[in-house]
Parts: sequence; C-alpha cells; structure tokens
Amino acid sequence: MISISSNTPARNGCACAACRRFIAGNRMIRNRIAFVHHYNPYIAGAPIRTAEMFFGRQQLLERILRTLPNNSLMVYGPRRIGKTSVQHQLLRLLQEREDPVYSFVPVFVDLQGVPEEFFFAHVIEELREQLGAEIAAAVPKPVARAGYGPREFANDLRKLIGLLQAQRRGAWAANKRIRLVLLLDEVDELNRYSERTNQHLRSIFMKSFSENLVAVLTGSNIRKQWESESSPWYNFFEQVALPLLTREETLRLIHEPVKGFFKFDPDAAEKIWLLSEGKPFLVQKFCVRLVNRAIEARRRVIPASEVEAIRLEVGEETA
Ligand SMILES: Nc1ncnc2c1ncn2[C@@H]1O[C@H](COP(=O)(O)OP(=O)(O)O)[C@@H](O)[C@H]1O
Ligand SMILES: [Mg+2]
Repeated sequence: MISISSNTPARNGCACAACRRFIAGNRMIRNRIAFVHHYNPYIAGAPIRTAEMFFGRQQLLERILRTLPNNSLMVYGPRRIGKTSVQHQLLRLLQEREDPVYSFVPVFVDLQGVPEEFFFAHVIEELREQLGAEIAAAVPKPVARAGYGPREFANDLRKLIGLLQAQRRGAWAANKRIRLVLLLDEVDELNRYSERTNQHLRSIFMKSFSENLVAVLTGSNIRKQWESESSPWYNFFEQVALPLLTREETLRLIHEPVKGFFKFDPDAAEKIWLLSEGKPFLVQKFCVRLVNRAIEARRRVIPASEVEAIRLEVGEETA
C-alpha cells in the first residue's frame, strides 16, 4: 500500500519559528479542506481502484504475480470481501510491471449478468476497448453477438496477440513473450453456462493459447463446484481464499486516509477493529459515517463513544 505521506516539517519535530509558521498555515488549510470541502476519503461500496485506498493483501498480490507467468489462479471469497478491488490492483500492477521475460497485458472483464450466448463476444469487446485503437481497428466488433462463438473468438485472439507482439517489435520489450492476463470477475456466472461453453473456454486456455494466455478469476461460490472431478475446471486453477484484514491492516485503513485531517482515538480504532472483524467493507462503512459526523460537528478527533453511537445503525444496514 502506498500511504499518503506528508513531509511537513511538523513530522520531523522541528520547532523553529519558520516551521511553526508553516504548521499554523498548514493547519488552516487542513481545516478548510476538512470542514469546508468535507474531506472524507473512505469508500464503502464501490471497488477500490487506487493504491492509496487499498489496504492489506500484499502477500496475496505477490503470490499472484509470481504465479501468473505460468499458471492461472482463482481467488474466492464472500461478497464485499474485496475481490473486485484485488482485480483492479492487479490491473494496475501488471500494467506497471517490468518483467525480464514477459510483457504482461492485463484486461479486466466483469462477467456479471453476461448471458452465455454473449460470453465470447463480451470478452472480445472488452479486449478491443482496453487495448487501444490499433487493436480495435484490426479486430472488428462482433456484428451479431449471439453468433460469435469460440471459433470466432479464437481467430480474433490469435490476430490480437500477433498484433501485440508486433507492436513491441523494435521496442525495449521486443524479445519478451506476450502474456495476456484476463482478469475475470464475477465468474459465478460461468456456473450458469453449459458445460460445452466451459469446455470451449478451458481448451482456449489449455490448448490454443497456453503460451500467451493466463487468467485470474474471482468469484464467491465457485470453489465447491469446481472441485468436483466432473467439472471442466477441475484441477485447472491454483485456488486462493481472500482473507479478512489483519488487525494491523485494519488500523492502517482507519488511520492513514485521514492523517493530518482527522484523528481516531486509539480506543475508537480498536472498537472498529473488534466490530468489523477485519471485514474491509465494514471498516470503511464505520469510517465514512464517523468522519461525516465529525465534519458536521466540526470536530477533528473521533472518540470511541462515536463508534458506539453508530454501531447498531451500521450493523443493521450491512446485516
Ligand atoms: N483492500 C481493501 N482496502 C480497503 N477497502 C477495501 C478493500 N477491499 C475491499 N474494500 C471495501 O469493501 C468494499 C467492497 O469491495 P469489493 O472489491 O467490491 O468486494 P467484492 O468484489 O468481493 O464484492 C469496498 O467498497 C471497500 O469499502
Ligand atoms: Mg465484486
């Protein structure tokens, strides 16, 4: 996690006149930002897209990045544990990654609500949209989405990977192998598809494009079904459970986003940790509410009594 750092002289403990003036000025600015502009950086609901608001999961991300050159992974966990947020971090990390052997090309695909007959068209449309104008021009948008099947998809994918490789010719990444990484979210949808479609997809990964294509899949109830030997996905993915945040990660999520603007009393932070049990959505929900109440009351410090005051309300809404 990249924390919001502040290099103000105040943090280095200097008390000279210039520094004191700087801090006083800064405090006014901070007050203005906090109370006039309603500074509340917490996010409760939408997936986290920035590095600054994403906490924990460092080992998991490292493990995924280590595995990806060779294998696909499946990350599972209940609703609101942070699966889509992990996918967005992977998208960013893979885009920035400079690997000596592979040129990673990540593409995020949300499968929620995608009907089976549109599946392959949906994936190619996402690839076209996210990989730039040259690819979009070379790979036409499917005309009849329902008529676009695994064969058409495989043809377009071959063309697309060839183009990605050609784009790197003459560039620093010329000798690197293209690794297209499909970041497939809400893959529970695949369980609603026929076995045939699942088999087609599997063979695209295993046979046709095993050299150039890997995936990270995220979903909730996929594990049980995919563990059965009759499933096309049996033994295909390395499986990883998405854990709750640790106490330390939870405390960082509470304190860091508002550093310099608001301050949670240690008791208040401890209480949030106990009540949220490390569920990131609940932590954020508490923090959003508590900071809003602090802004209304024009108070910079958040005491434990405030957590107590809203615990039922937050609990009921998220039950
Ligand atoms: N790593 C994280 N750091 C901070 N907050 C998180 C993190 N992961 C999830 N959250 C919180 O949980 C909410 C739901 O996250 P999301 O990724 O959409 O979960 P899922 O996809 O598992 O349903 C986010 O709006 C945010 O409040
Ligand atoms: Mg999600």
